[in-house]
Amino acid sequence: MGSFKGEAVIEMDHRAVTAKFKSPHLDFLRVTERAALLSARWVGKGLKHEADDAACKGMRSALNELDINGTIVIGEGEMDEAPMLYIGEKVGSGDGPEVEIAVDPLEGTNLCANGMPNAIAVLAGCVKGEGKLLHAPDCYMDKIVVGPECKGAIDLSVPARVNITMMHKCLGKKVDELTIGILDRPRHEDLIREIRETGARVHLISDGDLSVALAALDPDSGVDGLMGIGGAPEGVISAAAALCYGGEMQAKFVWSFPEERERAQGMFGGDVDRILHTTDLASGHVQFCATGITGGDMLKGVRYRRDFALTESILMRSKTGTIRRIQTMHRNFKRQEDLD
Ligand code: FBP
Repeated sequence: MGSFKGEAVIEMDHRAVTAKFKSPHLDFLRVTERAALLSARWVGKGLKHEADDAACKGMRSALNELDINGTIVIGEGEMDEAPMLYIGEKVGSGDGPEVEIAVDPLEGTNLCANGMPNAIAVLAGCVKGEGKLLHAPDCYMDKIVVGPECKGAIDLSVPARVNITMMHKCLGKKVDELTIGILDRPRHEDLIREIRETGARVHLISDGDLSVALAALDPDSGVDGLMGIGGAPEGVISAAAALCYGGEMQAKFVWSFPEERERAQGMFGGDVDRILHTTDLASGHVQFCATGITGGDMLKGVRYRRDFALTESILMRSKTGTIRRIQTMHRNFKRQEDLD
């Protein structure tokens, strides 16, 4: 796609879509793009807090330019621990639809700081009453994510080798052609061994299981599934992507302290120890948008030319099942000093 032309098309499309559905859908693109452009200045510099701060500032300033009455439901932490994009923070002009937003301005802070693959700026959102995102506490979650062809065939409660068998049948691939993304953590030693014993391939990642969840949903990414324990907030955003893609996610909270469990009970009640399905995490009309910061399994990172920067994003919504991949040429992009 000719990128500059692409941007013009986006502008037209945006007006049509917002007029028809009163949805901030395409506006979200600018939000993740700005977070990506700002944090990308810190790629490879070994300064993860600075990178995260830049992504937060970018995302927040872009959100505040939108005509929405937005609330952060998953963000950088509680109000007393995060200066920006904290849970409950109001964003947007205050005019327009009431929107709940789950953000991860820089998913993979170490990846960005170390110039490694799969750092992304990402958010999921829904108009209140039309869609729902679980207000998950900041704890761990055991996850399995697969694409549309394996929907209905996986089960988090059975051993990984059984899910591998189901996946190889659904995908029509030999077991040794399957690739499963897993965070490289000591807690996954047994899981990694079990998957390797089936003959399937393990794609180990040092961070960023949300990027790899996204890759697991896409049939052409080379990753067929994501398994293992990672962050719950990242899990809810992954579920929004699974809903939009027509794939499947199952998850179960993993508590590090009893207080986390109590907190979850206070937040959404019910049985907080059960297996959660995609629609327990994200349901109805939700929207998802991610922009690459460093190049990875799904998205190219921010690249620079003499007079402009290039970004690649994926933008989707469950209402229509539309999945857009957008490359944007930024000729006059905002820098951090423009926001300070
Ligand atoms: P950050 O961007 O907050 O550093 O999170 C990166 C990440 O790797 C997530 O993708 C993943 O879900 C989580 O951290 C795993 O947590 P831990 O590093 O504690 O295993």
